[in-house]
Amino acid sequence: MEKLRVAIFVSGKGSNMVELLKACQQKHYPATIKLVICDNPKSLALKKTKKFKVPTELVNLNRYQNRNSFEKEILRLLAINKIEFICLAGFMKILSHDFVSKWYGNIINIHPSLLPKYPGLKTHSRALSDNSKITGCSIHFVSSTVDKGPIIAQSKVNISVNDNIESLSAKVLIKEHLLYKEVLKSIAEIKTKY
Ligand code: GRF
Repeated sequence: MEKLRVAIFVSGKGSNMVELLKACQQKHYPATIKLVICDNPKSLALKKTKKFKVPTELVNLNRYQNRNSFEKEILRLLAINKIEFICLAGFMKILSHDFVSKWYGNIINIHPSLLPKYPGLKTHSRALSDNSKITGCSIHFVSSTVDKGPIIAQSKVNISVNDNIESLSAKVLIKEHLLYKEVLKSIAEIKTKY
């Protein structure tokens, strides 16, 4: 059985990307990362892909006439690398309705809150200022409304009175790393019968 051919889209630190790349190195893991797309030339993720020897493409929106040609280039890269599934991992560009419709059901995102709570940015500072006792992360299918697609899985984190944005973000990231590789494994098993 062939493994599921996956692309990861990143913009930032790339810690989730690294965890997925590591998981996919395991012999019996049912997915394989065939492409990393990064839109940010300053992203740390670009350096981190080097030791994994995974094809990595910088697609910088500023270099394209408009969002349509930017997305066209991404679609071209997905096609030539025969990508079947996309994992967004801290990708900071909002993809168009057309793009998302083409990939619907085959594109997922990880978000650092228990959706539907705190869609968008600054999730940890909002949870702290609400005095929430619990937060976490969610993995959801990407739809054209940001952070509103069907939820696939969530993982909870308790907020302690001593937590600040940094400590909470670190605790949530640990859960993100575990959850993302579990979810991709389950999806890839279903899609490939691997
Ligand atoms: C994560 O918190 C993820 O949930 C959010 O962006 C952050 C990316 O972190 N979408 P990293 O780049 O994977 O370290």
